[in-house]
Amino acid sequence: MAKGKSIFTRAVHAGERGAKPDFKPVATPIYNTVGFLYESLEDLDGVLGNEREGYVYTRYGNPTNAALEEALANLEESEAALTFGSGMAAVHASLLAAGVKAQTALISAYDIYGATYALCARLFPELGVRVQFVDVTNLEELKKTLSTARPVALILETISNPLMKVADIPAISKMAHQIGAKVIVDNTFATPVLFQPLKHGVDFCVHSTTKYIAGHGDVLGGAIVTSKENRSPLHEIIKMTGGNLGPTEAWLTLRGLKTLPLRMRQHCQNALEVARWLESHPRVARVNYPGLPSHPQHELAKRLFPPGLFGGMISFEIKDAEKKEVFRFMEMLELILPATTLGDVYSLTLYPAMSSHRALGPEERARVGISDRLVRLSVGIEDAAEIIGDLERALEKSYRG
Ligand SMILES: Cc1ncc(COP(=O)(O)O)c(C=O)c1O
Repeated sequence: MAKGKSIFTRAVHAGERGAKPDFKPVATPIYNTVGFLYESLEDLDGVLGNEREGYVYTRYGNPTNAALEEALANLEESEAALTFGSGMAAVHASLLAAGVKAQTALISAYDIYGATYALCARLFPELGVRVQFVDVTNLEELKKTLSTARPVALILETISNPLMKVADIPAISKMAHQIGAKVIVDNTFATPVLFQPLKHGVDFCVHSTTKYIAGHGDVLGGAIVTSKENRSPLHEIIKMTGGNLGPTEAWLTLRGLKTLPLRMRQHCQNALEVARWLESHPRVARVNYPGLPSHPQHELAKRLFPPGLFGGMISFEIKDAEKKEVFRFMEMLELILPATTLGDVYSLTLYPAMSSHRALGPEERARVGISDRLVRLSVGIEDAAEIIGDLERALEKSYRG
């Protein structure tokens, strides 16, 4: 900024927009800027008209977010990705991009994250969408519903929240495509370390990056991984609806993602040990974990996921317990925290009937199979024996009263 200007002007402009840097930072910087400048307005016009690539305004795109999007597309072995301010913003945008609108039909898995269920059971029907819920592990039922409902889209989770059902995504994608429906898979629990939905015919792979991808419980975010062709309508949607991820959040997520494979390996090893231990405990009535031979889709999980990796999420029922006893058990835990999230480095418990699936009424929960005895456990990366020790002590103490 030229000398001789007033201190008011210099305070605003000095130091900004320096000469083009001739250095390359090792890590992607946080581009905390809303706007981007061009040498000429013709250049800007070209970017706005999609004739050349570039950044204009951060709701349209930002280099920090673009670095995260490139990394996510790469891990999912796909062409493109788009980041969102939360997992739910991504779920919502994926449904719109898949063509869900008034007078169309949508099929959703029954056993699915509570807010996704609420979106499909409440918000979209209010807008004139016909929604049906199915058990996506029952392929016969699904096939019938697809042919009668003729939906434009089907939404499901790779590993379901909170019952850990595993969906046969390759077979389901084929079925849905036969009737022209788009397939949206929420891959939050599996992560690209376990499964890459786009390689199995899925059209939109959704993530709550808040969870395993960022991994440290300090940043909310979402993403959709998809083809280049599908990214364009999604980009138009985010430009209009604005559910963007901020560049600082994108940066934190990108940093977290670097250790995703390492963390997932530890989450999976720990979860398998914990699930085996829980299954052998006399006070545990049932354990839902795809790595156990007792899991109804254990063989499918072995076929879909890499050897020995079944995820870090477990749910289990405490024998003869009611809400009060389950609460006492959760409060007795010292290492495992009762936080309303999952996929962090910390081990976390959650009571689905109270939080993640509260939006469902008692009848809907009963239909899905979410009982008042059910606890969800996100196994962290701490020492497995110490996680088990905490569970053992709390189970023992909560029963003694
Ligand atoms: C499977 C799944 N999908 C989506 C979401 C929503 O993510 P967010 O909280 O980032 O909006 C969650 C949140 O718990 C989830 O568990």
